[in-house]
Amino acid sequence: MPQNPSANLKGQKKINLILVGFGRVGRAFYGLLREKRALIKSRYNLNPTLLSILNSTGGIASDKSIHPEKPSDICSSDLTQHSLWQKGLRLEHVLKTTPAGVLVECTPSDLQTGEPGLGHLHLALDNGWQVVTADKGALVVDFHGLREKAVRKGLGLGASAAAGAALPTLDVGRVSLAGAEITSLAGVLNGTTNYILTQMALGTSYEKALEEAQAKGIAEPDPSLDVGGWDTAAKLIIIANAVMGLNLSLKDVDVEPITDVSSRTCVSVQNGGKSLKLVGKVHKIKNIFQAQVKVEAIDKCHPLYGVDGAEKGIVYFTDTMGAVAIRGGKSDPRAAAAALLKDIINIYHRY
Ligand SMILES: NC(=O)c1ccc[n+]([C@@H]2O[C@H](COP(=O)([O-])OP(=O)(O)OC[C@H]3O[C@@H](n4cnc5c(N)ncnc54)[C@H](OP(=O)(O)O)[C@@H]3O)[C@@H](O)[C@H]2O)c1
Repeated sequence: MPQNPSANLKGQKKINLILVGFGRVGRAFYGLLREKRALIKSRYNLNPTLLSILNSTGGIASDKSIHPEKPSDICSSDLTQHSLWQKGLRLEHVLKTTPAGVLVECTPSDLQTGEPGLGHLHLALDNGWQVVTADKGALVVDFHGLREKAVRKGLGLGASAAAGAALPTLDVGRVSLAGAEITSLAGVLNGTTNYILTQMALGTSYEKALEEAQAKGIAEPDPSLDVGGWDTAAKLIIIANAVMGLNLSLKDVDVEPITDVSSRTCVSVQNGGKSLKLVGKVHKIKNIFQAQVKVEAIDKCHPLYGVDGAEKGIVYFTDTMGAVAIRGGKSDPRAAAAALLKDIINIYHRY
């Protein structure tokens, strides 16, 4: 990502922000921004300033911060009730009338078309804005197009929130393993399915485990993308394309759901000393990279064995650094918001 020449240790660097999508992640980002404001200023010398929030029907915008100092605010209420609400306010207008900063994209993921996020991200880059996104769809459909545009224009493209969120899959793969060849990778990349399979290994039925996951806010009201394996496939594609330079799309991934697994099977695998996990994997078969999402019995000595509950994990197998595994991180909107914030900080701050 590019260095920011105007950041210095004396004056705080003001970063204009536009937030698109004000659902669970967007609202969590809004709250986190206020919560972390003092730390971001003191530790990183940055002053992220929210100037606009947009949803599907309009938005609010101002040339001053729209972040109230007190937590009695729009976070839990309807954006249309805000005094600055403008029905039909469009992103294009806000991008063109606001000095460039960072577009924070939090609209729903459409894994087939990438829209509406893909259009938003291209529009922002075209107008000289850095971008950070939680939207998997846009990155699955056109990661390389977005990255090429960002690189050509010297802009940042932060994708952490869409690639495991709190689990730093991209940071480790791209920064910590720089110069190593990643020969394969495997990941437990979906907290919902991992929670369900962990509970099933304790004897809970699939239906009950899903119900519990929904009650805890781990699973979405419509869990089909998670339990069908598609969320794992989307993250796998983003990680493989970003870290390994592959050009995978959804049609290249062999995807298996967890819905065919019984709790009896989970318990029996567990009793045999292994653990059933939904694993996304990219590995070479006859010298060609293949991608798959499958329910696998993981052996005790495998780095992903202990990744339980709503946790996620990934292991990179490399030519020079051996197997490098990371695990942990929360799976919820606040963790996704924290990953967006991390990407913004890392666009501007150099250690
Ligand atoms: N939830 C998580 O824990 C999590 C974790 C990692 C990544 N993500 C990703 O983060 C993104 C947001 O997730 P979420 O859970 O916050 O979704 P959500 O609660 O459904 O919120 C989506 C927001 O996007 C807005 N929106 C829809 N179409 C739009 C458009 N054309 N222009 C502007 N705004 C539009 C919606 O506005 P209206 O209310 O007007 O429809 C809503 O405010 C998704 O891509 C998801 O895959 C989520």
